[in-house]
Amino acid sequence: MKQVHISTFGCQMNDRDSELMAQILAEHDYQRTDRPEEADLILINTCSIRQKAEEKAYSLLGRLKSLKATRPDLIIGLGGCVAQQEGEKLLERIPHLDLVFGTRWISRLPGLVKTVENEGCRLSQTQMEPAVAYQPSSSTFRSSPIKASVTIMQGCNNYCAYCVVPYVRGPEVSRPSREILQEVQTLVAQGVKEVLLLGQNVNSFGRPGEEGRGFVQLLERLEEVKGLERIRFTTSHPKDLSPGLTRCFGRLSKLCEHIHLPFQAGSDQVLKSMNRRYTRDLYLERIASLRDQCPGIAITADALVGFPGETPADFGQTLELIQSVRFDDLFSFKYSDRRPARASHFPDKIPEAEKSRRLSELQGIQKKITLERNQALEGSIQTLLMEGPSKKSDRQWMGRTRTNKIVNLLLSDIKIGTILSVKIDKGYAHSFQGTMIPPLQ
Ligand code: 5AD
Ligand code: SF4
Repeated sequence: MKQVHISTFGCQMNDRDSELMAQILAEHDYQRTDRPEEADLILINTCSIRQKAEEKAYSLLGRLKSLKATRPDLIIGLGGCVAQQEGEKLLERIPHLDLVFGTRWISRLPGLVKTVENEGCRLSQTQMEPAVAYQPSSSTFRSSPIKASVTIMQGCNNYCAYCVVPYVRGPEVSRPSREILQEVQTLVAQGVKEVLLLGQNVNSFGRPGEEGRGFVQLLERLEEVKGLERIRFTTSHPKDLSPGLTRCFGRLSKLCEHIHLPFQAGSDQVLKSMNRRYTRDLYLERIASLRDQCPGIAITADALVGFPGETPADFGQTLELIQSVRFDDLFSFKYSDRRPARASHFPDKIPEAEKSRRLSELQGIQKKITLERNQALEGSIQTLLMEGPSKKSDRQWMGRTRTNKIVNLLLSDIKIGTILSVKIDKGYAHSFQGTMIPPLQ
């Protein structure tokens, strides 16, 4: 058997794509290895959404130069968003790179590798058609036996001014609901208890000609899958979060009480220039409806600071929004130019030092809110899905609440996938300590 080493950068979509690469290559006699020096094939699954992620991929590629020099038979391939964007140019710039494959070429990876191997050539394939053919993951290729990610759609049509995704992941293509349902049923038969539905904007899920109400109907059908305990999804766009979907949080028992709803900026002027197509008030209304339908819902979001033209007053409105919503957690980033996204040509760029200052002010405020919210849960009873031994200590186990919070607790012996009631004893910045109910004797 040959060995393949896969490094993944970026989002959960990329993690899922890497799983799929490993699974497809296994059908062609490749086994995944953690050790690049032992691999016959090294793949780098890249992300270009932010400058940092892209730089990391290039830096890894640079470090592989000496390995390739000692082992000329080694095949090095680069996939994902950077590959999609740069294509052939990468082969010109990086002589030790053999293969560049775009975001929609995962299913055809074995054929590309074979061509490079048999013909000793270098290859770049980045056409956008057809869509990736996803298949149910098997536990051999997943990091968890009880949790699985299911890609339900690819691409994005939104063209937010800062974002490269529509260019590198192509237009939105939803998978047929029937296929997704079958995938989830297969996963549940393997012991999966929780699925995470993935897409850049899952709220606009649906296929032309498919009857029904798109994403809501998909959730309703998944709710009926026997043996499935939990359903999550990411990512949502505030403009597409319909009242019907909001109501699902109050009425579908398997849909977990957590939503990731990026707001990006708190000022209408910045939101308009970002082409987000909602206002601050609409965002706040949607949050209020979510909390109305599902009082305990956890809300997380993404925020961008230092978008071109963002004034101190605009930034102040972002801080105000954070203080009024009091998110459970927030992922915040400094804006970086991502060509060909439109904002890369906008005037009034914010100096790097100012972006850093704004980011650390925002993060300081959020850190306090997260801790306060976590401490407020002390004494509450939560339902955990046990994921495995804790990373913190070998006497502890780790489980997750329906609101996606990590709880560590002392347990002697328990099966992965067990559902437990726990009392939260202590809330920290990123996790909780709990005790099983009834307590261990
Ligand atoms: N600069 C910084 N952050 C960005 N994001 C997307 N594009 C950029 C960019 N050009 C952030 C957004 C998005 C998250 C996935 O990455 O906040 O929601
Ligand atoms: Fe990018 Fe906007 Fe699409 Fe999200 S919705 S992937 S931010 S273009």
